[in-house]
Amino acid sequence: MSQNARLDTWQAGDSYDAFMGRWSRRIAPQFLDWLAIPAGREWIEIGCGTGALSAAILSKADPKSLIAIDPSQGFIDKARANVTDARVDFRVGDAQEISAPNASRDVAVAALALNFVPDRPKALAEMKRVLRPNGMLGFYVWDYPGGGQEFIRAFWRAATALDSSAQEFNETKRFPYCTPDGLRDLTQSADFSVVEIAALETPTVFKDFADYWHPFILGAGPAPGYCTKLAPDARERLREKLERELPREADGSISMRARAWGVKARA
Ligand SMILES: C[S@@+](CC[C@H](N)C(=O)[O-])C[C@H]1O[C@@H](n2cnc3c(N)ncnc32)[C@H](O)[C@@H]1O
Repeated sequence: MSQNARLDTWQAGDSYDAFMGRWSRRIAPQFLDWLAIPAGREWIEIGCGTGALSAAILSKADPKSLIAIDPSQGFIDKARANVTDARVDFRVGDAQEISAPNASRDVAVAALALNFVPDRPKALAEMKRVLRPNGMLGFYVWDYPGGGQEFIRAFWRAATALDSSAQEFNETKRFPYCTPDGLRDLTQSADFSVVEIAALETPTVFKDFADYWHPFILGAGPAPGYCTKLAPDARERLREKLERELPREADGSISMRARAWGVKARA
């Protein structure tokens, strides 16, 4: 496992929800409106985490069934607590080796997850294998290269100013293909026919600096993984820099935006 992948630390469901789950939950309904899948379909979701997209599928898309997998036992436990619905089957599992029969699902989706799978072509090949002919693939990833994830970008900008080695862990550097062209190439290389790629956006408003900073010290995700491994004095310098430099609204809140790229393709 690479050093930067070691910082991804997908374990504690509560910490993940505070850091990223809350924003994924905002994108998920937009993504489903755009995907426009009729009711009664059989879905599979890879990298379901704590169930942000799973919950939206169940409430908005009226599926016949949903298999939702993630390698993290901690996230699957949290997803089961977050989402109680007889149609969903949360399982510990890996996108690179999906335990579902060939041609058994109508829709395969992934939210903010595909870029974290070590072998993405293998994951897409597995999603294709479990899809029925002409089945729908849909996923979204943050627009890291285009600066579309403003609160993470601000974190890495400050971290790199204090510690040039932080640049190694920055998702912009790790995931340069998270652009419309890069995602189109990735999807087409896996033998899918891309239907559309669209921007999905949400405001990310933090009520004060503590609301912005706290998730970074909980350790769930790449930037929090980096932050919690800093020595206490280095972490305090980073906190002070961000507190000093982040622009505030009149009420003390920090108002940013996040943009994901949604990809829709046919098997
Ligand atoms: C940023 S989280 C996204 C979680 C959730 N889908 C959401 O939108 O909030 C990335 C997820 O990818 C999962 N992941 C990492 N490697 C994976 C793999 N090989 N197969 C499936 N999921 C993986 C992590 O465990 C984590 O839950």
